[in-house]
Order: sequence, then structure tokens, then C-alpha cells
Amino acid sequence: MLSPDAIAAYRRTGYHFPLDILTAEEAAAARARLEATEAAQGGPLKAAMRHKPHLLFPWLDELIRHPRILDAVSDLLGPDLFCWSTTFFIKEAGDRGFVSWHQDATYWGLSAPDVTTLWLALTPASRVNGCMKFVAGTHRAQVGHQDTFHPDNLLTRGQELAVTVDERDAVLVELAPGQASLHHVLLFHGSEPNRSDDRRIGLAIRYIPTALRQVAGARDSATLVRGQDRFGHFEHEPAPRAELDPDALALHAAITARQQAVLYRGTDKAGFRD
Ligand code: NI
Repeated sequence: MLSPDAIAAYRRTGYHFPLDILTAEEAAAARARLEATEAAQGGPLKAAMRHKPHLLFPWLDELIRHPRILDAVSDLLGPDLFCWSTTFFIKEAGDRGFVSWHQDATYWGLSAPDVTTLWLALTPASRVNGCMKFVAGTHRAQVGHQDTFHPDNLLTRGQELAVTVDERDAVLVELAPGQASLHHVLLFHGSEPNRSDDRRIGLAIRYIPTALRQVAGARDSATLVRGQDRFGHFEHEPAPRAELDPDALALHAAITARQQAVLYRGTDKAGFRD
């Protein structure tokens, strides 16, 4: 799926985009499915459901196994893959929500930085509506972070790099609906508020090789999406049988509580914020 040049560019810069994953029609259909759920629930998807929604919605369980996605991620991480997590990053029209410059690896507790995020756009992602921005070549080392808990920050702790980023170094990750970017778990990235009159919707899908371990908390879980697990470091998550099925809701609640304990360790915060 990825050309040798694309793989070399990812190793050098820490990212690669755009990748064509869904057609415009498929992306619009995915957005419509999300928005049908939101309409039934009376408002935007709740914070708890934005985390690991593939455990609740069969169409997302299917999406994290999309052959074009797995072919690209396998080119970077090898043949045996878990989906460790998914998160909807939704910014409403005119939303002040932003993401400070950060490195994903900081609080995830995974044993090695062999983690790739595929960020799939279900709407356009542009300069105006707050697309992601990257700084090339920053994926080589972990740097310090400070927690701000800023109310408009979309990250769990409002964490930000303790070093200053020159905004002139930022690469804007502009994507059409159905396109995706790939980024390394140590890459500096962030995003601005949505200054447009429509929502900006993206699904971040985090992939790891089955060899990784959770080293910061209780036993972790993941969804095997390709190849084999010869290690047994993660509990295997089942696919949901039906949308918001009661068994899936109970399992999702238990799993997200355990992940929150890792993500918020050392703070007095209890969980995801709406
Ligand atoms: Ni991030």
C-alpha cells in the first residue's frame, strides 16, 4: 500500500499523508451513521463514547479492519497488529476546542514507541476548521510535558510540550473526506479551533504490533485486527454484536475505566470530560 518513498518519508519525518481510504460517498455515509446515533441520543456523542467507539458500533469495528488501512499500517509495523484504541475528535462549528502541541506517547504507558495513528477524516480537515498540524522529524525522542487542564483543550489533561514550537515549522494536515494521515506516537502535533460553519469530524485509530506491553497500569486490552498474537500481553476485545448492545456497553465501560486510570494517573481527575 505504501511506496518505498512513503515509508522512507515516514521514518524520516514521523508522518505520511494523504492516504486515500474511503470514497467521498463512503465518508459521507460514515458521518451519517455517526449523526444518526447522535440524533437518537439528543446531541453530540458523549465524551465516554468518543473513546474506543469501535467496541460499541459494528460499523467502526469494520472500519478499523479496512484492508487499505491495515495494508498501510502493516507496511510500518509488520504483519501482527492490534488496534489499541480509537477516538473521535469532533469539533463543532465555531468550537473553541483545540489540541495543544503534544506527543501521544507521554501518558499511554506502552512499552515501545512502535505506535502509529491513522487519522481518518469524515469531513474535510482544513486550516479553517482546525486540521492537525505536525512538526517534521520530532519523533526521535520523548520530551517533557506539563498538564494545563485548559477547559477548551480536547486532550485528557490539556497536556502540552514543555518546549516552545515555532508555528512556522508546522505542516498543516489538510485532508478531504475519506482521506487519512499516519503519524508516529512521538511526533509533535496539535490543532487549532474550528472557525468554520460546519463540524470537523475525524477518527483517530491507534495501531500497535502485538509484541508491545502496557507498563503503566493494570492489564490492558486491544482488538486483534490482522495476523497473530504470539505474546498474550493484551486481553483480546470482542467485536460488538449490535450497535450499543448491552454486553458491549458493559465491556466498554470496564475497559475505558481501566484506560482512564492509566491516562489520568497522578492527577485528581476521574475521567473523560464532555
Ligand atoms: Ni495526539
